[in-house]
Parts: sequence; C-alpha cells; structure tokens
Amino acid sequence: MAGVRDHHTKRTYSLSTGATHSSSRTSILLLSLLCTASLYLAFSLFKSPSLSPTFHSLSDNRTPCNYSEGKWIYDPTVRSPPRYDSTCKEIFKGWNCIASNKSNAFEIIKWRWKPNECDLPQFDPVAFLRLYRNTNIGFVGDSLNRNMFVSLFCTLKRVSGEVRKWRPVGADRGFTFLQYNLTIAYHRTNLLARYGSWLASDSNGKLESLGYKEGYRVDVDVPDGTWAEAPTFHDILILNTGHWWWAPSKFDPVKSPMLFFEKGLPLVPPVSPDVGLDMVLRHMTSFVERKSRPGTVLFFRTQSPRHFEGGDWDQGGSCQRLQPLMPQQVEELFALKNNATNVETRLVNQHLYKALKSSTFHVLDITHMSEYRADAHPSTSGGKKHDDCMHWCLPGLTDVWNDLFIAQLKRVKVKS
Ligand SMILES: *[C@@H]1O[C@H](CO)[C@@H](O)[C@H](O)[C@H]1NC(C)=O
Ligand SMILES: *[C@@H]1O[C@H](CO)[C@@H](O)[C@H](O)[C@H]1NC(C)=O
Ligand SMILES: *[C@@H]1O[C@H](CO)[C@@H](O)[C@H](O)[C@H]1NC(C)=O
Ligand SMILES: *[C@@H]1O[C@H](CO)[C@@H](O)[C@H](O)[C@H]1NC(C)=O
Repeated sequence: MAGVRDHHTKRTYSLSTGATHSSSRTSILLLSLLCTASLYLAFSLFKSPSLSPTFHSLSDNRTPCNYSEGKWIYDPTVRSPPRYDSTCKEIFKGWNCIASNKSNAFEIIKWRWKPNECDLPQFDPVAFLRLYRNTNIGFVGDSLNRNMFVSLFCTLKRVSGEVRKWRPVGADRGFTFLQYNLTIAYHRTNLLARYGSWLASDSNGKLESLGYKEGYRVDVDVPDGTWAEAPTFHDILILNTGHWWWAPSKFDPVKSPMLFFEKGLPLVPPVSPDVGLDMVLRHMTSFVERKSRPGTVLFFRTQSPRHFEGGDWDQGGSCQRLQPLMPQQVEELFALKNNATNVETRLVNQHLYKALKSSTFHVLDITHMSEYRADAHPSTSGGKKHDDCMHWCLPGLTDVWNDLFIAQLKRVKVKS
C-alpha cells in the first residue's frame, strides 16, 4: 500500500511541477486532483493479490523518491507518544536537552521531515525488531555516529526492555535485544584509518630530513583496531568520518600535522589532509567490501552539519536559534562559495561521493535535511565551556536519520 501511495504522490508532483508554466494555479490543482483520482481508480482495480506482480513491474520503472529533497513541517502531534524520553540511560549527559532544560527541547521533535515526493514515516520499532531478528548492526565512526546509535538504542529499548550490554569485536558499546537476538553496536573511530602520535626519532628518516619533529601518523591502508573485525561480525554497517579531518586544534597543520603512511612507509612528499582523506576512503571502503560476508548491507552516512554562528567553536560561536533555518539561510551558511564557518559540511561530502561512486555502499544522505536544523543542537545546555553546535539533542534529529536508514534498508532488502 505504501508503494501505491508513493506512486500517486510522485505522479501528482511531477505533473504539477511540469505545469508550472501554466498561468492558472487553479488549473494545476485541478489537474493534479484529477490525476490523483484517476490513479486511485486505476489502482483499486489491481487490489487483488494475484495482480500485484503487475504493480511491481510498474513501480520498478520509476525513480525512487529522493528523501533528501523536502522541507520541515511543524506538527505538534508528530511525536506523540514520544519514541523515548530523557530517562533513557544511554543518552550522553551533554545531549540530554530535556534533562538540561534547553528551552526548546520539546519543540525540536515536533518538526517532521516531509520529502517532496513521498513521506518519511517514523519507523515502527516492534516491526523492525521482528523483521531483523538474529541480525547484527554496527555503527562505525565518530561521536556523531554514536549520537545516531543512541537514538536507535533508546527507540528499541522502549519497546523491548530485555537487553544484554556487551562489546562485540572491539566495540565501544553494544546491546543485544534478547527477545529478538538483534545486536546493535557502536565502534568508535575518528578517521576510520589507524592513527597515533609520531615523534622524530631516526635522523636518517625521510620525514625527519624534511624537518618534521612531531605530528600524527595516519596509516591510510590500516583500519582502526576498534572496528577491524566489524565487517565479519555485522550484517549491516553504517560508516562515517569527516569532523576530525577538519579539526586543526588537534591536527594542527604546523605543530602536529597529519603524516600519511601507506604500506608502512611515509608518503613523500607529504600529502595534505584532503588528499589523505581520499586515500583513506578508498582503502577503507574496499577493505569493508573484501572483509564482509556476502549479503552484508553497507551504508556510508554523509556529513553531519555544524551550525556555529558568530565564530567557530573556540571563538565564541553559538547556535541559539529556536526554529529550523529557511532555505536561503541554509545556503548562506553552507554554500561552498561563501566559505563560512561550517563550510566543511559540503566539502566532506564531495570527498565521500567521489569515493563511494565506484563502491557497493549505499549513501545515507542526511546532510541537507540536517542543514536546516540549527535549532536542534545542545547549544549552551551541553554543559561545556564552549557551545555544542555539532552534536544533536536526544530525542531529536538523529531519530529521523534512523527513519531514513530503516526506510532505505527496506528498499535494499526488497531489491535483493
Ligand atoms: C537527491 O537530491 C539531492 C539534493 O537535490 C541531490 O544532491 C542528490 O543527487 C539526489 N539524489 C539522487 C539519488 O538523485
Ligand atoms: C532543570 O530543571 C529542573 C526543574 O526546574 C531542576 O530540578 C534541574 O536542576 C534543572 N537541570 C539543570 C541541568 O539545570
Ligand atoms: C543470534 O544471531 C546470530 C547472528 O546474528 C546467530 O549467529 C546466532 O546463532 C543467533 N542465536 C540464536 C540463539 O538464534
Ligand atoms: C576560506 O576561509 C579560510 C579562513 O576562514 C581561509 O583560510 C581559506 O583560504 C578560504 N578558502 C577559500 C577557498 O577561499
């Protein structure tokens, strides 16, 4: 039934956009209505189960709805009853905006993402647990992937309380929902590739002879130990990396630069972080493809936007908005040509798309929908010296990322 509805919306949409040259809005509306009505009529003829293959072959020809294009709609009923609340113990204190009394903590979850051509419904946790019995799901990446992992955990915990807490194959944290034997785990890794501090030691070394004294050695072809076994354990993987590649406070280009190694040897001449990122993405995606079992579903999540305004995180930047941004504000903040504070958002994505094009990873594109949500960060309620305009309040936006993840997972499973 959902497919039928999608099909309607799609047709109605393309018709009405196709007709924008027409001077009369009324006639567009009428046309859309007529078309919708006739499609309803047509499909009601196909309701008998024996005819459903006909419908499937029809639906295969259409391009699937693009979940990334849409808008946020204020809908006070949307999270009632809530998926979970501030008592979920996995919520990191700094992200628990309800407990820390952020003024708009309850407003954040009243916005619903409406893709232009379809709906993105809140996923049904009980149906999900049933469907993915005996399945292992691994989140591999930085704290933003943990933010998403916690949202999924809290949503599932609410409907299935019996859990075993453990750490499968190097995970930072993991849980099995015992009634369904479904395991979810978070593997912490900042760069995906292994890295550690590097000090000049060998006076004949190549980096030493170029004058390098200290920095971080990044092995572009070696996965971090925290997740190296994850591809053989999990049935579904969600990877991310991005924030740490644009973190000059840690990887200071002069005082503590990233020094890239391949096959155990330093790359000389040294390459810049954005070249290093391309190499890491290429090596890590092919590592996962080689190591994972056949049938493993691979996702790569796109970059999560930050919303620092009035300076970067360490320059007094803040995010005090109480409502999502308007489209033109999104462009001001994120357009590459403006080179503003949070410009890394779309830059990272350029690298990701380039690397993923020739891979078997599915892209989980959360960037654009999240760019609107300047209102959904912990901000001053994060309890830190600086405002947190990078992570997301829970409950909050990453709940919707999980809706998207699960909707896309269904598409993949239907195809295979
Ligand atoms: C979906 O829309 C976004 C934003 O317009 C675009 O960048 C992306 O390429 C589209 N994705 C697909 C699969 O067409
Ligand atoms: C939030 O408000 C409640 C009730 O007013 C109060 O008990 C609690 O200490 C506040 N929490 C924080 C972190 O300010
Ligand atoms: C639980 O699921 C895992 C696979 O994810 C499987 O290896 C194991 O046999 C399952 N356990 C039971 C009791 O079914
Ligand atoms: C963007 O701005 C930064 C400083 O904020 C500057 O260092 C960099 O060169 C700029 N990049 C471009 C492409 O203009």
